[in-house]
Amino acid sequence: MQTTQRKEANGATQSGENTAEGVGPNVVTRAQLIDLLNEDLAGEYQAIISYVIYSQVLKGAQYMKIAMELEKHAGEELSHALIISKQIDYLGGMPTTQPKPVKTSEKAEEMLRFDLTNENNTVRRYRQRIRQCEALGEYAMAEQIRQILIQEQDHQIDLATALGINVPDVSKE
Ligand SMILES: [Fe+2]
Ligand SMILES: [Fe+2]
Repeated sequence: MQTTQRKEANGATQSGENTAEGVGPNVVTRAQLIDLLNEDLAGEYQAIISYVIYSQVLKGAQYMKIAMELEKHAGEELSHALIISKQIDYLGGMPTTQPKPVKTSEKAEEMLRFDLTNENNTVRRYRQRIRQCEALGEYAMAEQIRQILIQEQDHQIDLATALGINVPDVSKE
């Protein structure tokens, strides 16, 4: 949770801000958008690494179907990383080289829960990113991120289904 002070330091101007980690305020400058997209890119790298590893190490007959889905997710996360890098370059920024840290576990269910938590955060972040792009008049960028968001929500559904739970409602957090 960001503090009011931090938001002011970021130059945010709008009230009713979404303050969850990494989403940023509703209205941002282009420089702030570059930083936020770089955080998104670090998350995409994290997702690629997680899915590469988890898809290969998941054990147990009941997890074979989801293991195959995770392998597909890995490729989709790579395409997201390329799209986000392109947007950062378009804005005049330099794409980051650093992934967010990847958690591992011996337990299949725990791995799936790590993935689901990351996907929930990603969905929250991209929803806000679309608002920020639109506020800047960057409608094409907003559209590209919408396409990514469609796949991230599918990832959420795949993971929630494998865990036997409902898809979390991230709009309330
Ligand atoms: Fe992604
Ligand atoms: Fe994803």
